[in-house]
Amino acid sequence: MKTEPQKSEAVILTDVTLRDGLQSESKIIALEAKLELLEQLSKCQFNRLEITSFVNPKWVPQLGDSEKLCETWFRTKSTQETMAFVPNVKGCERLLSFPIPWVSCFVAASQSFNQKNVNSSIEDTLKEVESIVSIAKAAKRKVRIYVSTVWGCPYEGEINPQKLEVVFQKLSKIGADEIALSDTIGVATPTAVRTVLNQSSKYFPFSKVALHFHNTYGFALANIQAGFEAGVRSFDGSLGGVGGCPYAKGATGNVASEDLMNLFYRQKRIPAFPKNEIEKGLQLLRDRLGLPVESALSKIQERGGAWYGL
Ligand code: HMG
Ligand code: MG
Repeated sequence: MKTEPQKSEAVILTDVTLRDGLQSESKIIALEAKLELLEQLSKCQFNRLEITSFVNPKWVPQLGDSEKLCETWFRTKSTQETMAFVPNVKGCERLLSFPIPWVSCFVAASQSFNQKNVNSSIEDTLKEVESIVSIAKAAKRKVRIYVSTVWGCPYEGEINPQKLEVVFQKLSKIGADEIALSDTIGVATPTAVRTVLNQSSKYFPFSKVALHFHNTYGFALANIQAGFEAGVRSFDGSLGGVGGCPYAKGATGNVASEDLMNLFYRQKRIPAFPKNEIEKGLQLLRDRLGLPVESALSKIQERGGAWYGL
């Protein structure tokens, strides 16, 4: 059934720097530096932070310290809403030791990417996802399911809409709180975003859809605006646009969270832009974590300019 966009709802911004950003950096960041970044991100007024992954550390050594990070972080009294990624039931059980309200998990629209990422077929992954949702729900957690390679796969290229339809249909029966349509290698265009949202709206209301764009070709903000105008209100970014995709050489990180925030602030869709805290976050990324920062806002500063309207 097609659901009308809920145009009045507030925008929800999720920062995924500590998970998606750091998982693809070749450099392994020390726990103390991650905790400093987490503390700083929690001051930047994002609605949600994806803080780590409970994956096999042999697959993703960059996030091999998830328990240590959570043990320290959850000793604080922060009101920041958090989310963490799990690839399977084992990961979900590890996550449930911590008061993380959101569990995120994954399936891909393309068989090859699914296989490379979690070493199983789409069909088996959907069964795993179903188990994750039921375990997480029993523990009163919310679940986001990422659908990767919606707009293109590094191995298979364009995604056949019928294959996408099958994944949407199966996911619609699983009962997640949010479906994050993901442009893993940053190849979507605004027209393609509208087409996919039209298709997904037969299965999920826009209030349950999030958009997760990588910014390889620089189209992410245009895609986000297209998604917003269609009725989606939940969007992801990573500070400074850090990250990439280990399976697609040249693919870049998520759209920069600060550019995402600026897009909505300048259109009066969010009430504030925490300029000083964002600047401190960018400084931490550059100076403490030693990561390249790639955003429109950071480039303006590097050229000695001031941020218009902020
Ligand atoms: P596998 O090797 O097939 O797993 O990996 P297995 O079930 O055969 O187990 C092998 C070993 O791993 C066993 O240990 C398990 O206990 C252990 P052993 O007996 O050999 O000592 N194991 C685990 N250990 C810790 N935590 C776990 C876990 N599970 C098994 N959760 C597996 C399968 C799924 C584990 C592996 O492929 C994996 O960890 N993949 C994660 C990949 C990943 O994190 N990718 C990035 C996230 S998705 C993404 O970035 C896309 C997204 O941003 C959206 C977009 O942009 O498209 C979300
Ligand atoms: Mg991603």
